[in-house]
This record gives sequence, structure tokens and C-alpha cells, in this order.
Amino acid sequence: MNLVLSPEEKSRLDIIKAELVVLGKERSRLIPALQLIQSKLAYLPPEAVRMVAEHLNISSSEVYGVATFYNQFRFNPPGRNPVKVCLGTACHVKGGDIILENFERKLEIKEGETTLDREFSIDRVACVGCCALAPVAVVGETVHGHMQPSKVEGLVLRARIEKEKREREKNRHDAGH
Ligand code: FES
Repeated sequence: MNLVLSPEEKSRLDIIKAELVVLGKERSRLIPALQLIQSKLAYLPPEAVRMVAEHLNISSSEVYGVATFYNQFRFNPPGRNPVKVCLGTACHVKGGDIILENFERKLEIKEGETTLDREFSIDRVACVGCCALAPVAVVGETVHGHMQPSKVEGLVLRARIEKEKREREKNRHDAGH
């Protein structure tokens, strides 16, 4: 699933393009170039991968090959509500994978992906340090312990209600100007 770049991301890509020139064209600049993009955009969109490939005169698949080798790089933007499901040992034993599956089904995306409205992304993480609460999921900044499949729906719904509230306030604010 390919997400469309936002206007802000497009203009950041222009800045990145200029910074790539400063970085140089040696093949050894590939990782620094990817790190630069990830630091500016928080992920590596296909447009940026193509840009790096052209800049270094290598193929896009070579860029992907290197980027996927390191798990510091992500290929989808983090959602406004990033969902991180813990699959460390304690959480795994208590059914963390079932929680992950429930988030995937509810949000209709797979782990590592982001919803089209960029509201949610799902990632699996290793131990988040509160094994006594296993299984654990982190939504945004909030840790949710003793997760159950039935809690997944509530958490997603709450985040969607928050989103609607934000939009209403924004509209009211915009109308006031
Ligand atoms: S294994 Fe999940 S919090 Fe430790």
C-alpha cells in the first residue's frame, strides 16, 4: 500500500535533495543518506528511495536491499496513534500475537503498515519493561496492560473519537478566522 506524500513531505524532499548534494556521491554515503531522510520524514517513502538511488547512481532495489537489512529504517510513516504491540517473551507467552492480530484485523493493515488516513500504524516491539502487565500494547504514549482482544476495539474507537474532536475544533477555529 503506497501512501501519498503530504505537501509538507514534498517540500521536505526538496530540502533533502539539496542536502544529498552536500553529502557526496560515494557509495559509502548510502547509510548516511537514508539516515538523513528518516530523520526528516520519519520513514523512507519510495520517492526518497528513488532519489537516493539516482543520486548515488545505483538501483532502487539495491537501496531497499541495504535499508531492509537494518531495522532502524521504516518504510511507512508512523501513524498519529502508533500502535506498538509487545511480543517480548512474557507478552508472547500471554498471547501478545493474538493482540497483534486483533489490531491488524480491526485497522485492516498489517504490522509495519499505516492506515491510509495515517491515523494508525502497527509495529511489534520487544519487551517494553512492564512484563507484570503482560500482554502489553502501547498506543501513542500510553501503555495498556493486561490486553485482551475485546480491549482492542475500545482503544481504536477512543482514538477515532479523539480525531473527530480534533477535527471539529480545527474547523471551528478555521471558521473563526
Ligand atoms: S515482554 Fe512485554 S513488557 Fe516485557
